[in-house]
Amino acid sequence: MLRRLHPDQPESFAFTPANQAWAEAQITKYPDGRQASAIIPLLWRAQEQEGWLSRPAIEHVADMLGLAHIRALEVATFYFMFQLQPVGSVAHVQICGTTSCMICGAEDLMGVCKEKIAPRAHELSADGKFSWEEVECLGACANAPMAQIGKDYYEDLTAERLSEMLDEMAAGKVPTPGSQIGRYASEPAAGLTTLKAHEADRPKHNAAVALATEIGDTLKRIDGTEVPLRTPWRDRSDEEGSANPDKHTPKLSGGEAVDETGIDKREAPAAAKAHPPASAPAESTDDETEGTKPETLDAPRAGGADDLKQIKGVGPKLEGVLNGLGFFHFDQIASWTSDELAWVDSHLEGFKGRATRDDWVSQARTLSEGGETEFSTRVKDGDVYDED
Ligand code: FES
Repeated sequence: MLRRLHPDQPESFAFTPANQAWAEAQITKYPDGRQASAIIPLLWRAQEQEGWLSRPAIEHVADMLGLAHIRALEVATFYFMFQLQPVGSVAHVQICGTTSCMICGAEDLMGVCKEKIAPRAHELSADGKFSWEEVECLGACANAPMAQIGKDYYEDLTAERLSEMLDEMAAGKVPTPGSQIGRYASEPAAGLTTLKAHEADRPKHNAAVALATEIGDTLKRIDGTEVPLRTPWRDRSDEEGSANPDKHTPKLSGGEAVDETGIDKREAPAAAKAHPPASAPAESTDDETEGTKPETLDAPRAGGADDLKQIKGVGPKLEGVLNGLGFFHFDQIASWTSDELAWVDSHLEGFKGRATRDDWVSQARTLSEGGETEFSTRVKDGDVYDED
């Protein structure tokens, strides 16, 4: 299947403030210079927020990670889990069409989708509320046929039940996920034949359904406020229960405390130390250093630092690196000679060559003279980096 960007694209994309904070926190999980590894979680969160991945969203994620746009486009167009066209505003229905589900009635389910949503997969329903597609095995074969709708699985489906569910969702309800014929899990459809002793005591729902019901985000577009942001790898104070540090803190035999992630809490891991605001990269050796070091500042001038993220190619990470090197203002960057530009480029750990590639000097010149670039206008409009 040819996967291309949709012809109709929105003007811009921005994470919600909570999603932006979440995304920036994810980036800090990776070692310095390996921030690109965060691309899939960030693209996924953008899709969770909007329902699909637009070109501005893909490019926004690329900019956050200091990647060329084509690199993020390669990832987004490769994986089928990324939707490259708008999906239903209420739900995108993914019908499993692999062996077990096909034998047990997946074609009937797709018949319902064709009739009630749209004749072809990936098309929006007339009211824009639904879309559908056939997907490969989702790993719930024992409860076939099934569909993933939003975040959750709906199992033991029949055409009638799916049709009903679509009506319920259109009316603003969220059908309870899990088996639709009352199975607790994947026990025999006719009921337990063994291990029946505790059947009467078990909770109403299995753990997955109970959690889905409790969180209630099955169909919800994720704006980042659903669960508190936790970054235990960065800061123990973010952790629930930090008032009682022993609560979740196993002890090593030598008495050293480690958190449940295995990180020694006495000292943040190297990756955590290096992230926003990023410190300057380690001093390069003479062999690695090219060009001439430009004049730098120990701190921003009175009035504060400029928002260097208005320069295309500078995200939060690179802004931190530039600040760490002693660059806080557009006019500093605008004044770099080609020799100085080479020095800066050789000091952008993980992003070497970026300053030349994106022509930071001429962008900075325009900005230092009070002008705007197309990119800086988008930043100011809040379409690119949201500092919240
Ligand atoms: S075949 Fe449908 S979930 Fe595995």
